[in-house]
Amino acid sequence: MITYLEEARQFQLDTPHASYVAALADDGFLCHVYWGKRIAPQDMTALLRLQEPPFVPTENERERASFMDCAPFEYPVSGTGDYREAAFGMETASGVRVCALRYVSHRIFRGKHAPAGLPHTWGEGAETLAVTMQDKYSGLRVTLYYTVFEGLDAVIRSASCENAGTEPITLTRVLSASVDLDDDRFEMLTLYGSWARERQVQRRPLMHGKQRLDSLRGESSHQYSPFFALLRPQTTEESGQAFGFSLIYSGNFMLQAELTQFCQTRAQIGIQPEDFAWELPPGAVFDAPETALVYSETGLGGMSRTYHQLWMTHLIRSPWRDRDRPVLINNWEATYFDFDLEKLKAIADEAAALGIGLFVLDDGWFGHRDSDNCSLGDWTPDPRKLPGGLKPLTDHITAKGMKFGLWFEPEMISPDSDLFRAHPDYAIGTPGTDRTQSRAQYVLDYSREEVREAVWAQMKRILDSAPVSYIKWDMNRQLTEVPRRTLWHGYVLGVYALMERLVTEYPDILLESCSGGGARFDPGLLYYSPQIWASDDTDAKERLRIQYGASLFMPPSAIGAHVSVCPNHATGRNTPFETRAHVAMNGTFGYELDVRQLSDEEKAQIPAQIARYKEIAHLVRSGRLYRLGDPFAPSGFAAQSFADFDAWMYVSPDGREALFTFVQITAEPNMKSRRVTLAGLDPETAYRYTLCGKEYVHTGAYLMQCGVLIPNLWGDMKSVQILLKATGEKGEMRSAE
Ligand code: GLA
Repeated sequence: MITYLEEARQFQLDTPHASYVAALADDGFLCHVYWGKRIAPQDMTALLRLQEPPFVPTENERERASFMDCAPFEYPVSGTGDYREAAFGMETASGVRVCALRYVSHRIFRGKHAPAGLPHTWGEGAETLAVTMQDKYSGLRVTLYYTVFEGLDAVIRSASCENAGTEPITLTRVLSASVDLDDDRFEMLTLYGSWARERQVQRRPLMHGKQRLDSLRGESSHQYSPFFALLRPQTTEESGQAFGFSLIYSGNFMLQAELTQFCQTRAQIGIQPEDFAWELPPGAVFDAPETALVYSETGLGGMSRTYHQLWMTHLIRSPWRDRDRPVLINNWEATYFDFDLEKLKAIADEAAALGIGLFVLDDGWFGHRDSDNCSLGDWTPDPRKLPGGLKPLTDHITAKGMKFGLWFEPEMISPDSDLFRAHPDYAIGTPGTDRTQSRAQYVLDYSREEVREAVWAQMKRILDSAPVSYIKWDMNRQLTEVPRRTLWHGYVLGVYALMERLVTEYPDILLESCSGGGARFDPGLLYYSPQIWASDDTDAKERLRIQYGASLFMPPSAIGAHVSVCPNHATGRNTPFETRAHVAMNGTFGYELDVRQLSDEEKAQIPAQIARYKEIAHLVRSGRLYRLGDPFAPSGFAAQSFADFDAWMYVSPDGREALFTFVQITAEPNMKSRRVTLAGLDPETAYRYTLCGKEYVHTGAYLMQCGVLIPNLWGDMKSVQILLKATGEKGEMRSAE
């Protein structure tokens, strides 16, 4: 619900448990008043401290700079006395960089604004506040949008800039949100990593100064994610305040928390201002990406569940969002580039016999690509590996009752490709300088429509000639030698434009995006692809951390996760086959291996694993996630107990069904069973479940207060999975016959 208190000139957005309040100060400044636990609308503008000398903005012109440098602004600009980080910057054609954004008008309406060409939230139950401000010098107008969706503790913010003046303007900084929180009692949780080690979690106290994470790679990156949370020091997984910030964007970003001289916190997120520019001729409009601000009083868990629900119900559009997705087998770790028709058919035969529903042909099927040295840009099947094209293979696969999926890397071009030989200018580069190769490839200039068309025509030919029901859209390098500052964002818009075309013309294709593993694992891509390959590291132990980090802000059903062989190709580690499946079920679930090389014992487990996944897929999709363990917990000598385990559960929205998974990371000799308390269940409901071959019926209260006893398991990385179902009776503590 959104209210405007006329007298106080105050805007208030209320969600089930939170309120977000902004107000107009003298002279048309839009100031931040409050974000926190829900409160009934009332005049809260005293919190702005506007009467405290020397800040009175209009009465004390002499101290205007002091006011600017500490007032809590909703969309701060630099150059007029606010020395904290600005949210907005521009330069007019005649060189004016000073900007004075002041309130002009506001609107409150049902529905929401849709930023042009960008992924965005949508759907029923939206209400929006739009506040328009104008720069009195250039005429530029900035409209800040704030949307709330019924039932969700989230505020979607974005900014739209319109050149309503007569001079061309260059935008140099347009963040999506800036929030001036009134205190400093925060810790900052962020995600960091690298290739094959994505989304590690770090949490640290805020320090005076700026704490920034960002990307200048042209993608959201392996290294940092466009998400962070501010937490109270006492906030835990299931209690305490958490303030989440997640940007719906897949290119350069920056996020920052700045602890100021008055012990206040300015939290910001948006497109990376460094090396950013956008030309805005008179009459033109620029939309910044949306960002979702989430408030939780139930710790990190509550914050994550709100993000999951928000993205599932108001961001992902694919019809596959609510469908059981086929269990796939991908040939990448099975064959890499070394395959031919016969080998693929043999793998497909075994996979089909085990009940796998989708065969995905990964890299190496086109041009003359025997390694990653060539052929990107030439999307025609390699006649040496696939004589007669894709048809003999797809005929074979579909005859087995399986679906067929295909890998593309549409944004790339190899120097050794017909496309490059014909159009060297299609690759991003700065004239007069060398292009830097990465994985022996260049990036196509997707800001140019003709370049996108050249790739699309080839993709379309393939899609119209073969029964492709799944696409893996990869992107395996970062941008270099970017010739102009407008290209970073123009590139991302181009990628979105082509993805939009793909999902519009082929709406039923299941699209999985990917970027050298998880370098573009962000909500922006969820708008096009309901699942994203999370990491090239398929080691179950590493995946515990990667998937934990990913689940903080992304829905588990979007986390691409596969069972692969051991020793694992990324780490050399051995883990039990069963555990690998349990961990991959905490995501999309599939196999990435040569089934022919599995032991009989491993192979025999596959049909049951598939059956289990089909039974629980709806829980991973629409259940509420509770993280019960901590794969980052130290197990060194300082640890007081052997807390070296991970566990999580999904509870169906009606509370009648739940899936609990436990992984003992390190075995300990001579220990008793471990008691793990569950979460999210209905205390009154009795649940039936089987643990170690014995059936139990216990109430949710018992399971949440007393827990289940997991026996000390023999071996590292052993796991237990329990499916709990409501019995329909009121529960009592008893063991069933
Ligand atoms: C990237 C992907 C892998 C695989 C290879 C193929 O690294 O993340 O899954 O598709 O490319 O080259």
